[in-house]
Amino acid sequence: METEKDVAAKQAGHLHDYYGRTSVDRGHFHTFVGSTDTETPVANGHVHNYANETRVAENHTHLMTGTSGLQVSVLMGHVHRLSGRTTVNDNHSHSYEVFTGYQRPPRNVRRRGWPAGVQVNAEQEGTEVKPRPRFRFRKPTEK
Ligand SMILES: [Fe+2]
Ligand SMILES: [Fe+2]
Repeated sequence: METEKDVAAKQAGHLHDYYGRTSVDRGHFHTFVGSTDTETPVANGHVHNYANETRVAENHTHLMTGTSGLQVSVLMGHVHRLSGRTTVNDNHSHSYEVFTGYQRPPRNVRRRGWPAGVQVNAEQEGTEVKPRPRFRFRKPTEK
């Protein structure tokens, strides 16, 4: 049976981080890091779109865009293979082939919280629970 948690996880989706380095062409390679988009369902599973710019080498960069391969089951979840060619910059391109890391939930997703009225870490009755002070984005207080 599907629990509420499973449903929430499905709606939120997942993505993968990846890093690696390109092939050597014209005497240099580029390193890169990135995170894929959330999954796109296809027959037999799902894939992820990705796009990133490589790090600078020899005063130029390349763009890497594409769609990952199907999920590959591994011990704790699944990974995807990313392979292809970068854009042509400075009259050359590089090839790359890496596997992503494990799946992870995207950030800034609203998840189901505690039921209304429940205060986590609340003190004993009678003591006030002060909100945590904010340190950022606070206007100077007028006196
Ligand atoms: Fe290059
Ligand atoms: Fe995935």
